[in-house]
Amino acid sequence: MDFTLSEEQLMIQQAARDFANNELLPGVIERDETQKFPFELVKKMGELGFMGMMVSEKYNGSGLDTLSYVLAMEELSKVDASASVMVSVNNSLVCWGLQTFGTEAQKEKYLTRLATGEIIGAFCLSEPEAGSDATSQKTTALDKGDHYILNGTKNWITNGSSAEVYLVIAQTDIEKGHKGINALIVEKGMDGFEVGPKENKLGIRGSDTHSLIFNDVKVPKENRIGEDGFGFKFAMKTLAGGRIGIAAQALGIAAGAYELSLKYSKERKTFGTEIANHQAIAFKLADMHTKIQAARNLVYQAACDKDSGKDYTLSGAMAKLYASEVAMETSVEAVQIHGGNGFVKDYHVERLMRDAKITQIYEGTSEIQKIVISRSVLKD
Ligand code: CAA
Ligand code: FAD
Repeated sequence: MDFTLSEEQLMIQQAARDFANNELLPGVIERDETQKFPFELVKKMGELGFMGMMVSEKYNGSGLDTLSYVLAMEELSKVDASASVMVSVNNSLVCWGLQTFGTEAQKEKYLTRLATGEIIGAFCLSEPEAGSDATSQKTTALDKGDHYILNGTKNWITNGSSAEVYLVIAQTDIEKGHKGINALIVEKGMDGFEVGPKENKLGIRGSDTHSLIFNDVKVPKENRIGEDGFGFKFAMKTLAGGRIGIAAQALGIAAGAYELSLKYSKERKTFGTEIANHQAIAFKLADMHTKIQAARNLVYQAACDKDSGKDYTLSGAMAKLYASEVAMETSVEAVQIHGGNGFVKDYHVERLMRDAKITQIYEGTSEIQKIVISRSVLKD
């Protein structure tokens, strides 16, 4: 596969790199400490076209391909994975889901504003008893003719308090199992919808993660995405692409940790020479570089599969599995290369190490990716 980037793709990559270094880097340590992400920055990312990258221009999007999206995700994630998860959820779960499966009215009403970053969205599948085991939905959406009545609790929802639009997966007909699940568009402010307290997290602390509580929320039927019972397939199909975005996030965290380590190892001297001249450090850099390049190939491959209309469930799962393991390994080694400085916040690598961990958990844990991959290879 030839991954030569076009002029346009190189421009997008550079724009994301500039934005990350000029706008995200200055406040990244403070945001990690305060767990607050100013919406101003989301607006700026929207102005640059990063919030609706794959959305058609007809709905105010940037009309770009998935490869451009992963290039931007990688650059943003090198500096601030909290910013990039907001971008990833909005792009690959919310906007892509609405653009691909929404009605024209839903696209006009929601997608046109989500794609510009005027508002952002959230994707609500996980529950206290339905994380990996996603078909075990306990949230109910009872069919009342022209509307649904939604009851239950979602947890771990990214953009939980900052979103205006929530795609909520819920069980309508328990007898039908996963075929009785629906996906509904819920708006902030609907009666009976409450946002729970913010989670105090290990990593991606700038991103707001909340539980959501639905108490007899009346959701009009026109807010259902797809046919009755399409909700679980909607979630799975959407997540298949979402995993490419998280794979790119993991790649960015790894590459960010590597770039900082490369620079540091050429500056820091011990025993009369730069630490890069000690083979133990040079070999760590060699391992990091090799694994990151392998991860990048998998991420680009999955993005190109999606762009060329091939099935990307397998390649997306492989990219996420591998890139997230590389993010974890690389960021741990980056802390080691930085010695004591690696253990303090000013040098950024400890934050990248904390941020890396989530990429092995959300949008399907590493174990779930192995289930997806093994089912696919066994089927073949
Ligand atoms: N595309 C289309 N349909 C799919 C599919 C896909 N990629 N994967 C599964 N399905 C369909 C199956 O074909 C099946 O339908 P049929 O019965 O009609 O054939 C149906 O969905 C149920 O599938 P399974 O029998 O395979 O279901 P399962 O109970 O064995 O679970 C699973 C499969 C892959 C483990 C799934 O439960 C899963 O993905 N779990 C992880 C959940 C997850 O990723 N959550 C992420 C939440 S969002 C998030 O995390 C965002 C964020 O952090 C930023
Ligand atoms: P569990 O499913 O309880 O898993 C516990 C452990 O058991 C894991 O190691 C898992 O891999 C393993 N395990 C479970 N089943 C199997 C099996 N069959 N075989 C082998 N091992 C297994 N969800 C959303 O819907 N929307 C969001 O925006 C969102 N954002 C998130 C943000 C953060 C910061 C976090 C922490 C989570 C977020 N999630 C979100 C939820 C996330 O997707 C789930 O945490 C994840 O899918 C795992 O589910 P769980 O936490 O219930 O773990």
